[in-house]
Amino acid sequence: MDIRSAGVVGLGTMGAGIAEVLARAGLTVTAVEADPDALARGMSMIDSSLGKAASRGRLTEQQHREIASRVQPAAAMASMADADLVVEVVPEQLPIKRKVVAELDRVLRPEAIIATNTSSLSVTAIAADSACPGRVVGMHFFNPAPVMRLVEVVTTVLTEPESARTVTALAERIGKTPVQVTDRAGFVANALLLPYLNHAVRLLETGYAACDDIDLAVTAGIGLPMGPLALLDLIGLDTSLAILEALEREFGGTRYTPAPMLRRLADAGQTGRKSGRGFYDYRQEETGQTSGKESAELPAPPGTVTLIDPSIGRPASPNSDRAEDLASLLAAAGVSVSWNPVHPTDLALVVIGPEGGVLGPARAAGRTADAVGMHLPHKSLAELVPSALTSAAALGRARALVARLGLTAVRSADRPGLLVGALLFPHLRDAVAMAADGYAAPRDVDTAMTLGCGYPRGPMRLLADVGPELAVDVLSAMHAGYGDPAFAPPPLLREYALGGLPGALSGAG
Ligand code: 3HC
Repeated sequence: MDIRSAGVVGLGTMGAGIAEVLARAGLTVTAVEADPDALARGMSMIDSSLGKAASRGRLTEQQHREIASRVQPAAAMASMADADLVVEVVPEQLPIKRKVVAELDRVLRPEAIIATNTSSLSVTAIAADSACPGRVVGMHFFNPAPVMRLVEVVTTVLTEPESARTVTALAERIGKTPVQVTDRAGFVANALLLPYLNHAVRLLETGYAACDDIDLAVTAGIGLPMGPLALLDLIGLDTSLAILEALEREFGGTRYTPAPMLRRLADAGQTGRKSGRGFYDYRQEETGQTSGKESAELPAPPGTVTLIDPSIGRPASPNSDRAEDLASLLAAAGVSVSWNPVHPTDLALVVIGPEGGVLGPARAAGRTADAVGMHLPHKSLAELVPSALTSAAALGRARALVARLGLTAVRSADRPGLLVGALLFPHLRDAVAMAADGYAAPRDVDTAMTLGCGYPRGPMRLLADVGPELAVDVLSAMHAGYGDPAFAPPPLLREYALGGLPGALSGAG
């Protein structure tokens, strides 16, 4: 079926983005929103997004006007009677979605398609009460809809193959990459993304790390386009909470139990960018002020540093290499390095691996107060790990040292995985577990996360880069430390550690 005219029901952030995408592809779009203020806001979002594209030279002013004029605002569903396809983007509540589908059944032609952009509800449950359940298909876009290329096309046992083909063809026509998925909570991308975002909130609420440090660990340490807390603010804390609740209902387990802080913020109406406030405060953005913390004044960097290698006296280990590398880095920056803990210096650094463990070696060296753990998970990022006995002055000197080395510093609790690993490895574990369940092929997992969430490399490629052996080690340490089976390395990951990832995933194929 050739789709010429479309409808969008619900003109929040996602609805407005989807209407824009459809209109940009030449379709006429009726945008229905019952609340007049929300309708006006949605239409102005479309106009300002097109205006921004025009100001960046991506569209001419004339294209901007033409596209905008193809979107017709309306208050009543009846205005969409002639639409070939309607996308519903109303709040994530089954009764509301079902009511919209029932109304669409009344106004649409029998051959018109109803697409739901649900992010977590069962498409089967949304379709089941429809007069024509065979024409109800999931068409799941990603935020910001004009930018993210993935569309998950969700079919159910009730879906007519022709409806799925039409939606798939439409997704391609509007410049997206459709990926066919079955009706399981969170589909592919949200089922992987949300537990990782939830874990980041847990790290924040337990004081494991600060908000900016959590986000920096992910952008600077892993190379993802946004940190998890900034991303939660973009998606919306209420939407994220609803997705987690659906995942928890379907799969159970601690990874999906919403962090209390997420629920509290959502209850308080601090739902992220759309309300002006979430983990960050966006209300000052308009006045040009930033919401980031003030950068604290740093003391003078240390001129002499003692390196404590916890693996000294044991057979050669990755840690010995880490210590040697750090010694070279310090020497190149003009810092004098000592390996003798008795020798007085300005600072002692315990060169730790991602499994952590600062206090033991610091005590053994007799340097408890002035020892800070350091781990470099990436060439531009240093994790600084104070022990319970590290003085504030020593931590300040360590920060100054990191700045002198030209690296970004994040502070982490001294727990298995430290900060980057605690966020990354369970996320990679979830991806491997999804492949092991046979729900998505490893390649599709990578496609979903690169095109849906802007990852430069998907989780499988990230795993190949960091090494599945390291992933098994860190996850085993996290599992032993917390006793949570959600961190236990799955058998397929252990197989990857023993035999390597399949060639195509490791980048070799
Ligand atoms: N609307 C339209 N266009 C936008 C936009 C928006 N809200 N935000 C950014 N853009 C455009 C910019 O205009 C720019 O376009 P250009 O290259 O043609 O000039 C381009 O995107 C890049 O934008 P910026 O340079 O301003 O900013 P960044 O390079 O930092 O990219 C980002 C911004 C695209 C949002 C990037 O940070 C990213 O990919 N983040 C990850 C987002 C993500 O994970 N989304 C999925 C969330 S899960 C989801 O939505 C599912 C749901 O069910 C919950």
